[in-house]
Amino acid sequence: MSNILSDPFRQIIAKSIVETVKPKTYAECGCYHGASMNYWNQILPPDCQIVGCDNREETIQECKAHVPRAILVNCDSREWLQNDDLPQPIVFYLDTDWTVPAVKDQEIKIILDRWKNVTIVANSVNYEDHKLFGSEWKPFSVAKIFELFGHCCDQFIVPKYKAPILENGYVIIHRGDVKIPFDEHIFGDLKTC
Ligand SMILES: C[S@@+](CC[C@H](N)C(=O)[O-])C[C@H]1O[C@@H](n2cnc3c(N)ncnc32)[C@H](O)[C@@H]1O
Repeated sequence: MSNILSDPFRQIIAKSIVETVKPKTYAECGCYHGASMNYWNQILPPDCQIVGCDNREETIQECKAHVPRAILVNCDSREWLQNDDLPQPIVFYLDTDWTVPAVKDQEIKIILDRWKNVTIVANSVNYEDHKLFGSEWKPFSVAKIFELFGHCCDQFIVPKYKAPILENGYVIIHRGDVKIPFDEHIFGDLKTC
């Protein structure tokens, strides 16, 4: 299954996070048919549980076929994010194009305040570019992601990433005892709050 994670650049980032954080939970909001989850499944430690949600039943079935060990829930992200007994550290994979806009800003702040050891891997898209393409999506800009999560993070990393088709990339928001190593040739801005 090909997806954006077949890109070596994103693989470097994902492996670096897994090796540093040693997550006990991988959680994905809006898992669709499991392309990203399938990739992370191959690099996560065996004792790391995999959980996810999607609000469309058919995507849950497909995702389950790709990642049989995942615990998947067919529900809205707002409901699913109330789950507060996930073992930490958590890698929280978040599709900001679709899922975050469905969650009210204040709700997500409250939820993430409960997770003291979390690395959020969020997609970001240059919103202005996106509007030029006439997309109906309402992706969040890096600035918006920082506004939402900046208050509760130790590291805020924006990778330098310009793919030929998708002008987007990961934003990594990290809170925990360890720092994710970054290479300035790969990562662009680093903000620490
Ligand atoms: C672009 S796809 C996600 C791709 C996937 N994260 C990956 O990287 O392979 C967006 C998914 O979010 C789901 N979604 C949208 N709004 C949602 C909501 N409020 N709650 C749960 N899932 C939602 C859609 O059904 C869709 O499957």
